[in-house]
Amino acid sequence: MCGIIGYTGKSDAEPVLVEGLRHLEYRGYDSAGIAVLNEDKIKIHKSTGRVDTLADICKNSPLRGCTGIGHTRWATHGRASAANSHPHTNSSKTIAVVHNGIIENHTELRQFLADNGYKFVSETDSEVIPHLLDYHIKSGGDFKESFLKTVRELKGSFAISAVCRDAGDKILSARKGSPIVIGEGEGEMFVSSDIYSISDKTDVIYVLGDNEVAEISRDCVEFSDFDGNKITKTPSEIKHNSYLEEAGGYDHYMLKEIHEQPRILKSLLSGEKTLSDIKNTPFLAERVKRTDKIYLLGCGTAYNAAMTGGIVMRYLCPVNVCAVMASEFAGGFYDVDDKTLVIAVTQSGETADTLSAMDFAAKRGAVTVAITNTQYSRADTESDFAFYTRCGREVSVASTKAYTAQLAVLYSFGVFLCNCLGGDVKRAEEVREALLKVTADVHLSLGLEEEMKTLAGHYAGCRDIYYIGRGSDFVTATEGALKMKEITYIHSEAYPMGELKHGPIALIDRDTPVIAVDCHPDLHIKTESNLREVVTRGADAVCFCPDGITHNGVRCIHLPETHWITAPFSSVVPLQLLAYYTSVAKGCDVDKPRNLAKSVTVE
Ligand code: M6R
Repeated sequence: MCGIIGYTGKSDAEPVLVEGLRHLEYRGYDSAGIAVLNEDKIKIHKSTGRVDTLADICKNSPLRGCTGIGHTRWATHGRASAANSHPHTNSSKTIAVVHNGIIENHTELRQFLADNGYKFVSETDSEVIPHLLDYHIKSGGDFKESFLKTVRELKGSFAISAVCRDAGDKILSARKGSPIVIGEGEGEMFVSSDIYSISDKTDVIYVLGDNEVAEISRDCVEFSDFDGNKITKTPSEIKHNSYLEEAGGYDHYMLKEIHEQPRILKSLLSGEKTLSDIKNTPFLAERVKRTDKIYLLGCGTAYNAAMTGGIVMRYLCPVNVCAVMASEFAGGFYDVDDKTLVIAVTQSGETADTLSAMDFAAKRGAVTVAITNTQYSRADTESDFAFYTRCGREVSVASTKAYTAQLAVLYSFGVFLCNCLGGDVKRAEEVREALLKVTADVHLSLGLEEEMKTLAGHYAGCRDIYYIGRGSDFVTATEGALKMKEITYIHSEAYPMGELKHGPIALIDRDTPVIAVDCHPDLHIKTESNLREVVTRGADAVCFCPDGITHNGVRCIHLPETHWITAPFSSVVPLQLLAYYTSVAKGCDVDKPRNLAKSVTVE
C-alpha cells in the first residue's frame, strides 16, 4: 500500500524514479509524484491517477538532477488529489518527503505546528513530516539530526524518505513497521519499499530493520538507530526477478498468472520438494510437537487458502484446528498460549492485519509459521519458521497463482504435522497420493477457458451472483465470489449451500444466477436438493462438478475426476477464468481494480 522509490547517483533521477514507480504501482495507484533536487531547488511533479499520467507530465517538462524521491499512493487520509499526493514539502520547498503507513499522532503534531505558524496544504497525515523536519532544522539542527528528532516524535507505522535542498545528494530513510530497502550500485544508490522494483538495477541490497535509519549518498550508505547510534549491516544478494518482464504475450498479468499455475504446482508438489523443505527445517518438529491447537490466519484470498488448509489439517491432525480472519484474531477472542501453533498465510508478507495477529500470537508464546511468497518480508523475518510459496512475483491485484501455491504448501505442511502430532498416517498417505495428480488436474481445468469466456458474456450484465458449496467447495465458492467482486464490481456472495434456505434464499429470483461447486462424492445428493430450491425460484444455476455428475435443470460444467481433498486446486481455476473474462467483457481494469492495492499495510 503506497510505494516509495529514491535514487541518488550519476544519472538523471527522473527516469529512474518514474520507472521505479511503474514497478511499484501495484501497491497503490490513485496518484503519484516525484521530487528531484537540482542545485538550489527541489522540483516536483504530481498527478492523480496512474503513473502513465505522471510520465506524460515529465515528458513535457523534464526534471533535471541526479537525486530524487517518488511515491505512488493508495489514499487513506484525504481523497486522491494532486494536493494529497506525495512528495510533501515544507512551505519554502527546501525539504521533500514521501511516506508509507499512518502517522497516528498527526492531529497533535498538526496542532503543534499550526500553533508555530505552519500552514498545511493537504488533508494528509504525512504532511506533518516535512513541516516538523523544517521546525527542527530552524531550531538549529542539521538535516540528519532533525530527521532523527522527527522520526522519534512520530507514532504509528511508517517508511519515510526525505531529501533536503541544503544536504547535497543525501537521501534519509527511516522504517518503523513499513518495509524499506536500500540497493547499492556502482556510484549510485536506490531506495525502495519493494526489493523487486530495484532488482534489475542492483543485486546488492540492505533491508532496513524496524526503528532504523539509512543515510545514503551516491557513494556511501550508513545505518543508525533512531538515536543516531551506528549500526553495521551486511548486504544480501538478490537475483534479477522476472516481475520486471512484461505480461508475456497475455493481455493481462492475471491471465498470465492463472496459466502459470500448473508449472508452479509441479515444482512445489512433484518430488515433494516443499515437504522436504519443511522436514529439513531445523527444530521445527521439536517446536511443534507440543501443539494442542492450530490457528490458520490470513486475509482475503490468503484467508480462503487458510480455510482450506484448516479443512486438510482437521482431516489429518488430532488437535483443534481453526481458520480465523487475521483482522479478527488480535481482539482477544481466541485462546492462545505456548501450545498454540499459528500459521499465517500471506503472499506479500506485509499485510498489516496478518502481521499484528502474528505479533499477538508470538507475545502469548505461540509458535508462528509464515507461509509467504516474499523473502525478507516482515512475515518472513518475524515468524519462528517460514515457508515460501515460490510462485514468482504476483503482479495482478487479484490473487490467483499465489492462492494455489499457498494450498500446495499448506497441504504439505498438513502431512508433516500429521506425522509430528501422531495423526492418521493412512490419511496422510491418501493426501500425498492425491497431491501427485494436482498438476495434471489444474492443467485439465485450464481447458475450460473457452467455455468460461462464453459464460462470462452471460454474467457481465448481472447485478448479483450467488456462489454456493459445502465444506471445501464452499471455500472455493468464496474464493470464486471474491475474484468476481473485486475485478468486475458485480455483487457476488458465497454461502454454504445448506445455509441458503435459512435466509439468503429470499434474495433468489430469475435475476440472481447461482454458481455451485460440488466436488465431494458424499454431497452430490444434498447439492441436488439445494440446487432444486434455487431453480424452483427461477434462478439460472450452473454447477461445477466432476465428470459423470448431473443435476436436474442445471448446466453442469465438468471438472477433472479427483479426490475431494485436492479438488480445491482444480475447481478454483474455472472460477478464476470466469471472473477474468467477465471483467474483460465489462471493460474493467483487470489487473488494477478500483479502490484496491496489492499489499494492504494498514489495519
Ligand atoms: O499479501 P496477502 O496475501 O497477505 O494479501 C491478503 C489479501 O489482501 C489478498 O489476498 C486480497 O484479498 C487479494 N486482492 C485477493 O485477490
